[in-house]
Amino acid sequence: MTGRRPLVSGNWKMHLTHLEAIQVIQKLSYALDRTDRQAVDVSVHPAFTALRSVQTVIDADEIPVALGAQDVHWEEKGAWTGEVSPVMLAKLNVRYVIVGHSERRQHFGETDDMVARKLRATLRAGMTPICCVGETLAQRDAGHTHDVVVGQLRAALDGVDPAAVAGLAVAYEPVWAIGTGRNATPDDAQAVCAALRSAVGECCGADAAAGVRVQYGGSVNAGNAAELLAGPDVDGALVGGASLDPDGFAAIVGAAG
Ligand code: PGA
Repeated sequence: MTGRRPLVSGNWKMHLTHLEAIQVIQKLSYALDRTDRQAVDVSVHPAFTALRSVQTVIDADEIPVALGAQDVHWEEKGAWTGEVSPVMLAKLNVRYVIVGHSERRQHFGETDDMVARKLRATLRAGMTPICCVGETLAQRDAGHTHDVVVGQLRAALDGVDPAAVAGLAVAYEPVWAIGTGRNATPDDAQAVCAALRSAVGECCGADAAAGVRVQYGGSVNAGNAAELLAGPDVDGALVGGASLDPDGFAAIVGAAG
């Protein structure tokens, strides 16, 4: 993790009511206090209904955790029933927005083009996108991992000012590793994160490649984090299931530092 601050992000998915989320962020705050955590950025991504409550606790208790969202629409406002705009999120002090999570691509038909629009809208609103890419098991077995993830990344970065790309986060999340208890090997995680970084270099220049943070995600837990995050091109983790347990998540943060 050469010169880049690792970013460990907890994706709470469709878990936790706003009342439960308040408890989790408070417990996480205590757990992080006890963690030997050096120079690691941490974000949590509650459901939309819990954002305001979690933000209030983070602000009141000055908890060193950034607020994140799990998704966003690409328009600032309009007739888009059920959607949430980047402006609405920014107003809640949301700092990081996950875009293109594989569950959104798989179950809600998000295309590369939609992901690209969401990414640009997130930047326009002054927030940092965490752009997710990852291959399915069939794509992996066919030997297409590299082409798939680099293709998704290039599509997502289309039209983005190269100067903004250094500040971005990308999450390599093999679809077959999400919520399954299966991981990429640390070598695979490193190799794919390195390939994503070179792809950033090709499209956006050396500064962007050196600055962009590439997380690994997919069944990361307190037991495997240190190993999975050890590669020089792996700058932290995007954590789903294990982020719901404050002590376990704090241990992952510790392992990233
Ligand atoms: P998981 O989810 O850690 O539960 O595998 C990761 C993610 O979907 O971001």
